[in-house]
Amino acid sequence: MSALLEVRGLNVVFSGFHAVTDLDFTLQQGELRFLIGPNGAGKTTLIDVVTGLTKPASGSVRFAGQEIVGRSEHAIVRAGVGRTFQTSVVFEELTVLDNLDLAASFRRPLPALLRRRRRISDEVAAALDTTGLGDLADRPAGVLSHGQRQWLEIGMLVAQQPRLLLLDEPVAGMSRAERERTGELLRLVARDHTVLVVEHDMDFLRRFASTVTVLHEGRLLREGTVAEVQADPRVQEVYLGRTRDELSKEVA
Ligand SMILES: Nc1ncnc2c1ncn2[C@@H]1O[C@H](COP(=O)(O)OP(=O)(O)OP(=O)(O)O)[C@@H](O)[C@H]1O
Ligand SMILES: [Mg+2]
Repeated sequence: MSALLEVRGLNVVFSGFHAVTDLDFTLQQGELRFLIGPNGAGKTTLIDVVTGLTKPASGSVRFAGQEIVGRSEHAIVRAGVGRTFQTSVVFEELTVLDNLDLAASFRRPLPALLRRRRRISDEVAAALDTTGLGDLADRPAGVLSHGQRQWLEIGMLVAQQPRLLLLDEPVAGMSRAERERTGELLRLVARDHTVLVVEHDMDFLRRFASTVTVLHEGRLLREGTVAEVQADPRVQEVYLGRTRDELSKEVA
């Protein structure tokens, strides 16, 4: 395995507030990595930096050996980095197929764009297959359930043929059955992509994660297997402990 993403000495500061501090983070080619941490830990900020949305105060981000700090978001997408957002980006009036086709089309040259929809392109067919949305291909995306919409978004990313997928809380708000299916989908996608998934749910991690990175207040707290991370007293204190507090608040 070789490193696909190498973050070194990353610092992100928003108006004096240190959102990420001295972060080193490496993803090997072909990994399915989970990123956890309490609210405000810097998880989304890390994704924002890797995708060029946020400029770091200092540090380096190398993707496939190339420095990408300072490159435009568009250039980073073209280099092969795809992401989902915490909010949905599907076009509700368009069909599932059109959404996938549109997502895939950004790589096509103009003549190919004009030929759009004469046939389903290979990458769109593959995305339909991977997400299991084939039966819904001709339905408007607006009718999809929450879970199906998330799978469509993942499919839209896959259709863009990125090398690295960054998924920000893809199972948030999902039913247990939908989570399970999403986990299977992530495994499938990770067969031929490198995938970073932000997710809080420990049951989900126990089921689908191998290596987990824990951020806390913008710093790397721990990296290891699910079992190692769960057994770490510092993680229990800042992450699991807080989750328990939140849970008891919800119950009260
Ligand atoms: N554009 C911004 N301007 C100012 N502060 C920001 C900005 N973006 C993020 N922050 C702050 O940086 C910190 C890290 O935020 P971030 O969104 O990365 O956390 P997170 O780990 O994704 O949390 P969550 O689990 O709530 O999604 C938070 O304190 C947040 O308020
Ligand atoms: Mg976030």
